[in-house]
Amino acid sequence: MNFEIYLRVLTLADARVSYKWRNNPKVWKYTNFHLSGQITHKIEERWLRDVLKKTDQKRFAICLKKDDRYIGNIQLTNIDGFSADFHLVIGDPEYWGKGIGQKATAIILDFAFFEMCLTEVSLTVDTDNKAAIAIYKKKGFVDAGQQNHHNVMRLTRTRHLTNHSNYVI
Ligand SMILES: CC(C)(COP(=O)(O)OP(=O)(O)OC[C@H]1O[C@@H](n2cnc3c(N)ncnc32)[C@H](O)[C@@H]1OP(=O)(O)O)[C@@H](O)C(=O)NCCC(=O)NCCS
Repeated sequence: MNFEIYLRVLTLADARVSYKWRNNPKVWKYTNFHLSGQITHKIEERWLRDVLKKTDQKRFAICLKKDDRYIGNIQLTNIDGFSADFHLVIGDPEYWGKGIGQKATAIILDFAFFEMCLTEVSLTVDTDNKAAIAIYKKKGFVDAGQQNHHNVMRLTRTRHLTNHSNYVI
């Protein structure tokens, strides 16, 4: 199977798909999002409208090249011109374990360091989220501390330069 991907800018219309991911607790087990009730298309769309207005974030949809299917989100938040926070979710578990998370991470890191010229990208990951930690270590992130069952990990531009790939957004 071909699991080549590309990233495109996230749009309001993507709420039609992503609201379904919201209602699967398995997807959010290791994240800060805690499902407390049914998420409808309207709720997701309202949330997305708000975050898409923010100027300190860059949000992208992860899509399959073979059929343009939208399967996940990847974003940089709290962008201050020098650094940003990183987030990744593949919303449909059918696509887990196929190298897609690694590919999407490589693309957005090249974008962050080469296009946006950031000097540092940080993330927080649950210490039990072994698949995510494996990706982040492979992409050069290093441990920068632990708090409340979470690892804080950081990647500098200099370190990324030794570990980068080509990218297309
Ligand atoms: C975490 C997540 C992004 C991983 O994406 P993915 O596309 O399934 O991951 P990949 O297939 O690219 O790579 C996973 C890597 O983790 C490794 N891995 C998986 N489970 C593992 C485990 N229990 N222990 C150690 N390594 C593990 C895989 O072997 C693979 O590494 P490899 O290519 O060297 O073999 C995806 O499962 C997801 O979206 N989960 C829900 C949201 C989430 O947790 N996001 C991260 C928040 S920080």
